[in-house]
Amino acid sequence: MEKVKVSDREFTISLPEAQIMKRVSEVAAQINQDLKGERPLFLAVLNGSFIFAADLLRGIDLDCEITFVRLASYEGTASTGEVKQLLGLKENIEGRTVIIVEDIIDSGLTMQELLKLLQKKNPKDIRIAALLVKPGNLKVNLDIPYCCFKIPNDFIVGYGLDYNGEGRNLRSIYTVVPQD
Ligand code: IMP
Ligand code: MG
Repeated sequence: MEKVKVSDREFTISLPEAQIMKRVSEVAAQINQDLKGERPLFLAVLNGSFIFAADLLRGIDLDCEITFVRLASYEGTASTGEVKQLLGLKENIEGRTVIIVEDIIDSGLTMQELLKLLQKKNPKDIRIAALLVKPGNLKVNLDIPYCCFKIPNDFIVGYGLDYNGEGRNLRSIYTVVPQD
């Protein structure tokens, strides 16, 4: 079994590069079919989605645009607690079809916040494209029409995803080896 060390932990391969590439093109083909005649705006959430976004977009044959955003946490009032702020969206999304491009949906709370922030801007439609979803951790109900892989709750790294800031450059996806 192929193993890698990232920062201080060992990981074993779980999704090889070829399998990822094949699935990402299938999902791109599905988007092409569903959105024929539309001019979607892909909205990639940094940092983790940068590689997925690059591969997905090259599979799209629609006229389209891509933009990159970041979600930052900041302290709201005592009543609102921690809230998220959307950084980097310069485009007017009113009346547009937006496809959110995310690396991984774990609890789903980040995505829920992002959807709320985007819905205020009156887009025509918002669809989620996620490389990975951990259904066992989902705390909210999300419609994810373009999900590449459903995975168990274990921590993973590679293909844009990091552990302690490292491992984003790995071409395959690896799962952490439990420590004994
Ligand atoms: P959520 O709000 O719980 O859905 O959090 C999603 C975010 O948590 C992702 O955008 C990642 O930054 C991070 N995350 C969750 N699981 C993993 C993982 O297994 N590896 C790397 N990052 C992860
Ligand atoms: Mg992310």
